[in-house]
This record gives sequence, C-alpha cells and structure tokens, in this order.
Amino acid sequence: MNDTQEIIEEHLEKAKVPSKYKPAVREMMTAMANHPCYGNPHYKWSINDFELGHRLGRGKFGRVYCAREKKSGFIVALKTLMKAEIVKGGVERQILREIEIQSHLKHPNVLNLYTWFHDSFRIYLVLEFASKGELYNHLKKSPHGRFPENKSAKYTYQVADALDYCHRNHVIHRDIKPENLLLTADGNVKLADFGWSVHAPSLRRNTMCGTLDYLSPEMVEGKEHGHHVDNWCLGMFVICSTPIS
Ligand SMILES: Nc1ncnc2c1ncn2[C@@H]1O[C@H](COP(=O)(O)OP(=O)(O)O)[C@@H](O)[C@H]1O
Ligand SMILES: [Mg+2]
Repeated sequence: MNDTQEIIEEHLEKAKVPSKYKPAVREMMTAMANHPCYGNPHYKWSINDFELGHRLGRGKFGRVYCAREKKSGFIVALKTLMKAEIVKGGVERQILREIEIQSHLKHPNVLNLYTWFHDSFRIYLVLEFASKGELYNHLKKSPHGRFPENKSAKYTYQVADALDYCHRNHVIHRDIKPENLLLTADGNVKLADFGWSVHAPSLRRNTMCGTLDYLSPEMVEGKEHGHHVDNWCLGMFVICSTPIS
C-alpha cells in the first residue's frame, strides 16, 4: 500500500465511514488524491472545473449553486458574486475580508471555504455544501415556529461553540441569524456568510451592519461595539426558536 492509500484507509476508519459506503468514498478520495490540485496550492481553479446543479439560494451579489467538481465528483456549494455589483455597492474591501477571514477559520461548526477564484465578471467562493439549507426554513416548518428542546439545545451549543472559536481568533461575525446558519446532511449547524465579518484584534468597531431584527442595542445606537454583538444575536435566536413552557 502506498502513502496515499494508507492516508485514505486511515481516514475511512477515523471518520467511521459505514462499510456499505466505503468503496464509494474510497473511490472519490482516490480521485481527489489524483487531482492536479492535490498538494499544489498554485492550481488555477476555473468554472470549467465544475458542473453546476440547482440553485441553493440567492445572495446579495449573486447566486449560490450546488456544484460537482468534475474530476473527483466532490460536491460543493459555489457562491457567485458579480464584480459589477460589488463595485456598484463599493464593498470590494468587505468581500476581500469575507474571503480572507472564512478561508482561515477551521472549526466543525464553521462553514469551510475550500478555495476561491475569479473571471472577468464574477468571483466564485467554493464552499462546503450544507445540504439541508437554512435553519430559518426548518424553524418556519417546526410546530409553533420553534424547535423541540433537544434540537434547540444542540443548535445553540454548536453556534455558541463556533462563535467562541471566532471570537478567540478576533473575528466578529456581525450577521448571526437563522438564514446564515446552515444545516448539513447529518444535522449539524454550520455558521455561514462572513460577508459582514471583521477581524478586529482590539475587538472594538463602529460600523453599523447586520440585519435589523437581530441588531444589538449598541449597534442600533451607532456606538462602538465588540464581539458581544454576536452574543446578542445568539440570544435573540434562542428566544425566537426555543420552546417556552
Ligand atoms: N454552503 C452552502 N450550502 C447550502 N446552501 C448555501 C450555502 N451557502 C449559501 N447557501 C444558501 O444561499 C443563501 C445566500 O448565501 P449567503 O452566503 O448567506 O449570501 P449573502 O452574503 O448574499 O447573504 C444562504 O442563505 C443559503 O440559503
Ligand atoms: Mg446571508
């Protein structure tokens, strides 16, 4: 067995892949290891590397699609951002921040940004796929618009853990809401959309941003704010989604 095969077998054991799925996962991982990008951080990605599937959502500057990387079959979410719209909105720096911040964060409950590339018209973010979509839609469909206690506790814990990790790395998300909390196939929350986030070593900022329903008092009053604005939003989320008895 060569080194790559050994790594693959180790992963299959560590990730506890059920035996009926092992051949398919092994095949995909072998295709990934044989991909020209493997071990080559300078690989030039382009839209031709992907087959586009259905639309997952609509973003402020473009659409988000389910996509399959052609050589490996690996499924991702492709967030497209129209350059003209970004320039029109004067948010070039904020988009660079989104990319810079999200590509550095590595946590089980933070949506992974695998890579990014651009062409003449668009910027593409290659993101981990969260197949069950926005927590918002699940909340709307739940009886009385609230999650059962066990789910509520799990989601709250996972978001709190993700936020704690971001804050320890001096990142404030600034747009925590159920639309930006995504659910994976196995029912875990991924903190997504770092479009308003900021890396602030002093953890004090002045810009008013986020979404009105969830704005913290200091943000509404245009005062200096820190990472507590995210904690406020998490609190709002808990109040709005937890069963009250
Ligand atoms: N990785 C993903 N997996 C599944 N759906 C996604 C993913 N990323 C985004 N979406 C969908 O697209 C929507 C918009 O994406 P988002 O990153 O929040 O864009 P914006 O910054 O414009 O709000 C999300 O609310 C969600 O419905
Ligand atoms: Mg969003």
